[in-house]
Amino acid sequence: LAKPVDDIPAGSLTQLRRDAAACRRCPLWRDATRTVFGRGPARARLMLIGEQPGAQEDLQGRPFVGPAGRLLREALAEVGLDPADLYMTNTVKHFKYTPRGKARLHKRANEAEQAACRPWLAAELARLRPRVVIALGAMAAGTMFGSGFRLTRERGQWRPFGPQAEALATWHPSAILRMRGEDRAAARADLLGDLAAAARRLA
Ligand code: URA
Repeated sequence: LAKPVDDIPAGSLTQLRRDAAACRRCPLWRDATRTVFGRGPARARLMLIGEQPGAQEDLQGRPFVGPAGRLLREALAEVGLDPADLYMTNTVKHFKYTPRGKARLHKRANEAEQAACRPWLAAELARLRPRVVIALGAMAAGTMFGSGFRLTRERGQWRPFGPQAEALATWHPSAILRMRGEDRAAARADLLGDLAAAARRLA
């Protein structure tokens, strides 16, 4: 990660998940239903890092099970990657929102909340030691490559990540869902291309 984490939690993924369920490192736990920890086998060689859980993820307790997750899972299937073989997680592990009537409107986690959650992501990376890491969107890309990273300029470029991994950043599926027309088609094609490149590296 771009900024060093000096208090990486110890324990297996199962233990981390249990400990993260009781996390009080930032105030987001108060209004969220639960911690949405990463999911996937400990032997996964590909790790996908999103932003933060949405309303569906908050209710179900799993990353990428809402509309963005549907787009992502379709894209994975198109390039022959089985979601069951990879590890999916988020930069921030609690849903943040503003209540609006019965709805809960997604709100972006701030710097302090992202920093408070970084030890969990660092621990997931340390336990999993994935070969390939994909940052989905600017928040994950910034956490991995630093705040100077610009997705529009540096999307799809592989870089070394630690001693034995490679990483790239690509569009977040939620961002693709907000685009229209040609932009959306182009961004979706970029995402497919980047996922396909990851699949080739694992082959
Ligand atoms: N769902 C997630 O789990 N993460 C995101 O970044 C977006 C939607």
